[in-house]
Amino acid sequence: MMELIKDLSILTADQQMETPKITGVRSSGKPKKLYIESYGCQMNFSDSEIVASILQKEGFETTSEIKEADVVFLNTCSIREKAEQTVRNRLTHINGLKKNKPELLVGVLGCMAERLKAKFLEEEKIVDLVAGPDAYRDLPQLIAQVEDGDKAVNTILSREETYADISPIRLNSNGVTAFISIMRGCDNMCSFCVVPFTRGRERSRDPESIVTEASDLFEKGYREVTLLGQNVDSFKWSPDENNKARLEKKEVREVINFSQLLEKVANIHPELRVRFSTSHPKDITDDVLRVMARYDNICKYIHLPVQSGNSSVLERMNRGYSREWYLEKISRIRKILGTECGISSDMISGFCGESEEEHRETISLMDRVKYDFAYMFMYSERPGTLAEKKFNDNVPDVVKQRRLEEIIQKQNLHSLERYQQDIGKIHNVLIEGYSKRSINFLQGRNSANKVIIFPKENKTKGQYVNVRVETCTKATLLGKII
Ligand code: SAH
Ligand code: SF4
Ligand code: F3S
Repeated sequence: MMELIKDLSILTADQQMETPKITGVRSSGKPKKLYIESYGCQMNFSDSEIVASILQKEGFETTSEIKEADVVFLNTCSIREKAEQTVRNRLTHINGLKKNKPELLVGVLGCMAERLKAKFLEEEKIVDLVAGPDAYRDLPQLIAQVEDGDKAVNTILSREETYADISPIRLNSNGVTAFISIMRGCDNMCSFCVVPFTRGRERSRDPESIVTEASDLFEKGYREVTLLGQNVDSFKWSPDENNKARLEKKEVREVINFSQLLEKVANIHPELRVRFSTSHPKDITDDVLRVMARYDNICKYIHLPVQSGNSSVLERMNRGYSREWYLEKISRIRKILGTECGISSDMISGFCGESEEEHRETISLMDRVKYDFAYMFMYSERPGTLAEKKFNDNVPDVVKQRRLEEIIQKQNLHSLERYQQDIGKIHNVLIEGYSKRSINFLQGRNSANKVIIFPKENKTKGQYVNVRVETCTKATLLGKII
């Protein structure tokens, strides 16, 4: 079977550039239907919108009904073993569909595709196509190859690809909030993390294309953009590093960092809210905090993952900061942006060699910071990472689980406490749509990223309203428009 597979990674760039023979149109003239399911982080969801755009140009139509699809893509995540297991279970289900529709083309995209490459085709027989995160421009060609009876793989990582010129097709959009990728890859090499291997080297996108995308969204009625990257604070764009074509034309322009980019996007319109994710504690600067303070439309919310509250664990994780450094960053945020600024985190329990005392330091750091919100995980060893090579995954699962529960319990207390502090206060809310439970209520978020639900009155999504908070749970504020 393996000889049937044309692995594009062994073709030269010129061979890959051959004109694709297919379009997304059937011989009957009807468009073919593409169904994409996304897993993992927002970057993956954002990439699916790029994929949809590339294939729409070929004539494909997207569908939200898997049963109607001619092509099914799973855009996958490798961050923890469980994420990969979810994808495998989903493939088993799709196998059932393919039995009734043998011509269904099944493709795997994203991080798991990149990690497993052609091996995917051996492990999961129903997969026809494997494409890594930097290979999406090649999808029309890969689909053509499958339609010719071969399997297709392209998992080449690029140092330049940012899909800057591709205007994403907004999938499952509420028409109010949208994500914009501002960079790709990651150069950090945190020892637990698979991302640098699945997404390749860090590269920033041309700021002009970012501003154009955000302005177009505003014109279309969107009122909030979230700038995405694994480490937005290391955004750095200069013509020489990122865009060789411009350099050849000798168009030398200024170097732009993240605080400058943030300011450019904030200047598009005062009614366009700007958010960003993820910030890295070692890289976030006072400049960024000051720009946030200066612009009302830059939301006062920072996702600043700590991972652990103990300096030795942080060192083993290769995070590049200590407990003290992190707490100092928190003080800077509080000093420049005040206590109302929302702060959230990611935490990992039971990393290699984590002692009970080290774990207690995560809990005590949480007591110091009082996060509004957190994503909390048990450590899951990933093949090929530094931690897998250097350390022993020696904290038993029951201990990881118990420590995770302690972290979750602590966080629940803090979330409730932080939400209760908002009761009685007036918040400016951007309405995103109906509340999940009732069409008589609307929901939106305040600047600090907290969800607020309130009676609809005569308001509609995309509008800003002032809401006085009357009560709360640990995850939602409830109030009335004033
Ligand atoms: N770039 C972001 C994180 C991206 S991954 C940052 O640096 O913060 C999202 C989160 O998944 C991480 O913050 C971490 O908490 C978690 N994570 C990553 N690898 C993991 C692993 N091997 N086991 C458990 N959690 C992991
Ligand atoms: Fe992974 Fe660290 Fe990069 Fe985040 S910063 S994606 S945790 S390597
Ligand atoms: Fe997962 Fe890849 Fe994102 S591993 S978390 S989808 S960058």
